[in-house]
Amino acid sequence: MKPFADNEIAEIRSHFPALHQKVYGKPFVYLDNAATTQKPQAVIDRLVAYYSLENSNIHRGVHYLSQQATQAYEDARQTVADFINASAANQIIFTKGTTESVNLLAGSLRQFYLLEGDAVLITGMEHHSNLVPWQQVCKQNQAELLVAALNDKGETDLDHFAELLDKKPKLAAITHISNALGSVNPVKEMIRMAHEKGVPVLVDGAQAVAHTSIDVQELDCDFFVFSGHKMFGPMGIGVLYAKAFWLQKMPPWQFGGEMVDQVSFEETTFNQLPFKFEAGTPNVAGVLGLKTAIDFLKQYDMEVIAKHENQLMQQALEKLLTIPGMRLIGEAENRAGVISFVVDGTHPSDIGTLVDKMGVAVRTGHHCAQPVMTRFDVPGTVRASFALYNSLADVEGLFQAVKKAVMMLR
Ligand code: ALA
Repeated sequence: MKPFADNEIAEIRSHFPALHQKVYGKPFVYLDNAATTQKPQAVIDRLVAYYSLENSNIHRGVHYLSQQATQAYEDARQTVADFINASAANQIIFTKGTTESVNLLAGSLRQFYLLEGDAVLITGMEHHSNLVPWQQVCKQNQAELLVAALNDKGETDLDHFAELLDKKPKLAAITHISNALGSVNPVKEMIRMAHEKGVPVLVDGAQAVAHTSIDVQELDCDFFVFSGHKMFGPMGIGVLYAKAFWLQKMPPWQFGGEMVDQVSFEETTFNQLPFKFEAGTPNVAGVLGLKTAIDFLKQYDMEVIAKHENQLMQQALEKLLTIPGMRLIGEAENRAGVISFVVDGTHPSDIGTLVDKMGVAVRTGHHCAQPVMTRFDVPGTVRASFALYNSLADVEGLFQAVKKAVMMLR
């Protein structure tokens, strides 16, 4: 399978208005896709259409617009279920994003499952969203947080992961792809290892969904979370997928309208799945925009997207490594979407500030993964992260800008 041809990239880019602007008078090179991707016109149009003509609350109105919006919202749930191959739409819970999905899970499991003396296993490459909620649950419930070490390439040490599984944690919460290093965890293998010890697994797919196809049944993960805004959808919308067994057992996390069945001053009974976990008025426009983003992404073959991004990353690496003092942080054999680096004698944020003035958007700092920075003994990194619409011209723009910035800083 071949990566995209130049004319295909031009066609893809034509859908993204933000890519065609100038920044500081320079052609815009957007390489901060791990933080958030740009949005295709179709997603922007979907939000405008909803608020222009369809705006209404869902699941509670008999009037025309409410019924139309309810239908569209539930159709979107089915689209999400199909996208990750969940066996039923009611296994899809809409949230604000990955962070809220993990908090929902942690907030529910802490009530009945993660108790005193228990343990939760994470990896050393988790970003704060899949670390702090588990750390806090462990603190609150006198449980232990176990952390599988990273090797010097930034890969999870699977021997250590296996050793920690022997301690019988109640949950393993692992990222699919590291936002700070680009390392791809062998999640299928890790899930198999965990299940052999009877340990359920949460996969944090925030960095994965725009780069690789996801089949939750094939992975056999117990939980899977992701955000819409990192896969060309709107901000403020995300997903928690869980196996039905868990969703049935889990108590609600937030209370209010929509998640209830019968309410009196004395008692409340809760709604059926998935509504039990969706208290209050949801982000209807976000859900419809997410469906449009999935429909957009489905036009392309995920394997071709991955090939294209890998080719760009390889070319960027070859060029960047010619800069004296360039040091990659994270050199996993299997990596996707992200290049992280420091340059001796310079500070990452100085490079970020200078390349920004040349029209190149990268992220600098700890990338909401401070323990990863501590592991590699750096204050932060410069991170270039790729998406399907990036081109060889973007790679060249990055290289030229970093080279110039380094010269200016020395
Ligand atoms: N986790 C997001 C990032 O990596 C915010 O930039």
